[in-house]
Amino acid sequence: MKEILKYVKSNKKEYLEELKEYLRIPSISTLESNKKDIEKCSKFVATKLKDAGMEKIEIFPTDGHPLVYAEWMKAPGKPTVLVYGHYDVQPVDPLELWSNDPFEPVIKGGKIYARGADDNKGQNFVHIKSVEAYLKTKGELPVNVKFLIEGEEEIGSANLEKFIKNNKKLLKCDTVLISDTSMYAPGIPTINYGLRGLTYMEIEVTGPNRDLHSGSFGGGIANPINELAKIISKLQDKNGKITIPEFYKDVKVLTKKERESYKQLNFSDSALMKEYGVKELQGEKGYSTLERFSGRPTLDCNGIVGGFTGEGAKTVLPSKASAKISMRLVPNQKPEVIAKLFTKYVKSLAPKSVKINVIAHHGGLPIVMSLDDKAIEAASRAVSKAFGKETVYTREGGSIPIVVEFSKQLKAPVVLMGLGLETDNIHSPNEHFPLKNFELGILSSIYFLDEFSK
Ligand code: BES
Ligand code: MN
Repeated sequence: MKEILKYVKSNKKEYLEELKEYLRIPSISTLESNKKDIEKCSKFVATKLKDAGMEKIEIFPTDGHPLVYAEWMKAPGKPTVLVYGHYDVQPVDPLELWSNDPFEPVIKGGKIYARGADDNKGQNFVHIKSVEAYLKTKGELPVNVKFLIEGEEEIGSANLEKFIKNNKKLLKCDTVLISDTSMYAPGIPTINYGLRGLTYMEIEVTGPNRDLHSGSFGGGIANPINELAKIISKLQDKNGKITIPEFYKDVKVLTKKERESYKQLNFSDSALMKEYGVKELQGEKGYSTLERFSGRPTLDCNGIVGGFTGEGAKTVLPSKASAKISMRLVPNQKPEVIAKLFTKYVKSLAPKSVKINVIAHHGGLPIVMSLDDKAIEAASRAVSKAFGKETVYTREGGSIPIVVEFSKQLKAPVVLMGLGLETDNIHSPNEHFPLKNFELGILSSIYFLDEFSK
């Protein structure tokens, strides 16, 4: 073990340079214009896996973006770990709020700044480098390892879902190891045991057949922005409850034990308010902040457009307005059911004076895992050893819809070894990843392979 750790230490600089190279590829999955970069990024990942000593490297084309696979299966009788991650990233806008070019990584104050630094290039690179360190020093791994790094996580993983169904044998494993979540706090080793699900909707409101002068027509013809705002305002009540009929019908209530474990994390509301510059917190009445963040369902408007948004003032009564709305789900809510309930309710709220169109985008199921599992125990020991503290267990508020498919199709437990921080600005300007987490993440991964082989 000493040898491997020494190897990591002496190659730290080189690893960081390689991570920078990874981060320079603008692999934004949602933009058609970046298709070439996506391809380039899949090749980059394949090359890095090969350099690490992995075998049977394969880039699988899909109807969307390619999947990268690799394996090292020379530990007969030992368990198999499937490492999952994603090389695609979110768009960078608003670009003007970045302090550096999002695809020209900068190291500042012990952090590396770039789109994808945390979500997810920095976190999946950790595992590639851990395997490399192992193989370069020992010539072998203590367990069998497979890698599956996809390019469509940020757009719903639709093609990966099909791939898993059709390639169960190829992907057969004893556990799926994923680092695409967050630690509870800086320096606190964390295993996440839950993810929320997601239903993503869009509401389009159309009023008059063209934009009108708000002086000549305002007050007499319905304004789509006004009507949309009224609809949105009716989706939650003053107690922070979502008002969609039957929305909570399938929600599994938090048990006493769960609520107790939330309490034990001693979360500080005031530190949170300070960090994000808000004077008060809000949310569903009767629940703590941490419960609201991960144990209860929520509804948020993610974007709203309509009318004149340019510089200065222009009077107009617009023809159209629209909003994108996400709902985070908890067990046992189902994304399609929620999409239907949402559509029905929103339509019922619309006045006859406007036309309304409701669109369902991608969604995903929520999951809560059992902590009573060998892989999770091994991961817990591993992160604790690397970070030198006792491991804590948290439920994550974000979503990784493919996790449910791994668990269902491969029937293997999933380990969420969160290495990011909540303050890393994922999906936002100035995304970053602490170098400390990168380094200790590599150690965590090395220890995990070792612990899981026992
Ligand atoms: N890495 C995130 C999941 C995540 C979010 C972990 C927040 C920890 C905190 C993942 O890449 C992601 O962004 N997922 C999307 C869902 C997807 C279907 C677009 C999300 O949660 O919005
Ligand atoms: Mn993401």
